[in-house]
Amino acid sequence: MTLAIETSCDETSAAILKNGREVLSNVISSQIDEHKKFGGVVPEVASRKHVENVDVVIQEALDEAGVTLQDIDHIGVTYGPGLVGALLVGVSTAKALAYALNIPLVGVNHIEGHICANYIEDKNLVPPFLCLIVSGGHTYLVHVKDYGTYDILGKTRDDAVGEAFDKVARAIGLGYPGGPIIDKLAKKGNKDAIKFPRVYLEQDSFDFSFSGLKSAVLNYLNSQRQKGIEIIVEDVAASFQAAVVDVLVHKTIEGAKKKKVDSIVLAGGVAANSGLREELQKAAKKEGLTLKYPSIKLCTDNAAMIGCAAYYAYKSGFTSDLYLNAVPNLKL
Ligand code: KG4
Ligand code: ZN
Repeated sequence: MTLAIETSCDETSAAILKNGREVLSNVISSQIDEHKKFGGVVPEVASRKHVENVDVVIQEALDEAGVTLQDIDHIGVTYGPGLVGALLVGVSTAKALAYALNIPLVGVNHIEGHICANYIEDKNLVPPFLCLIVSGGHTYLVHVKDYGTYDILGKTRDDAVGEAFDKVARAIGLGYPGGPIIDKLAKKGNKDAIKFPRVYLEQDSFDFSFSGLKSAVLNYLNSQRQKGIEIIVEDVAASFQAAVVDVLVHKTIEGAKKKKVDSIVLAGGVAANSGLREELQKAAKKEGLTLKYPSIKLCTDNAAMIGCAAYYAYKSGFTSDLYLNAVPNLKL
């Protein structure tokens, strides 16, 4: 039985898993309401809230699963990437528990956790596959060759996709986090209303760049405001989202062809985006590829995905010692 703890950003989460893929509980305490009034995550507030919540969330996860700490075989915890103060709360808690219970500790890379959310969603999913990881902090196109074996095809050179969604939403005057709000508004807008740039970078490059698109949206908003022209937020949302989705879909399909895989898997908070899901589904079908993505709860930050990653790492013989530290800029 795995106990997993996730505190890398603004969700305090704990989960209990059996055999890595069976989730007995996945308790998520979101701090979104705390950060909303500031328009984004405030690191100090996040750490303090994690300290207040972490023990309660772990106890809830145990109760919901109907187990006690004595039933736990190993503890998985996110040690990066993320906010250092936030990560430290989870890491310190996991270390204390592993020491007190005398059981192994497994440090987990948060990005790997996002990929593993798919193993929980689909019990039959096995590598190899191509994974597009799109979250608030990361954008990666990865060839998952085996459990824990990754070949990175491309990543963002500037903003992460979710970050672009959040910044654009903020500029339009929508709330935080912006991704789900833009997604909802985009459904009512015309995606061809405004021609925003699609940045493909060099030919054959699988890297991404979203800062130019973000600037184009901000410039558009400023110029409309200066001219006193009414901004149709639904059209801005739809046109921006379409520009993002076009690039993501194109590069993902090309990546799948290059790596000769027949499955594509989505991961990370932006994997919840309905436009991305629909367009990638259409393109994948055309190419005879299958597309899988986690349910919304498993797309955004949660401890169950961390527990699944910890299980496979532990099974392959990996454990961390009690010197495990938070690594805010940890790479995949
Ligand atoms: O994976 P996640 O929970 O946290 C990180 O590890 O970063 O992702 C959060 C990000 C936020 O930027 C949020 O705006 C975005 O995922 N997001 C969405 C949607 N739901 C969440 N972006 C676009 N469409 C959505 N439906
Ligand atoms: Zn995340």
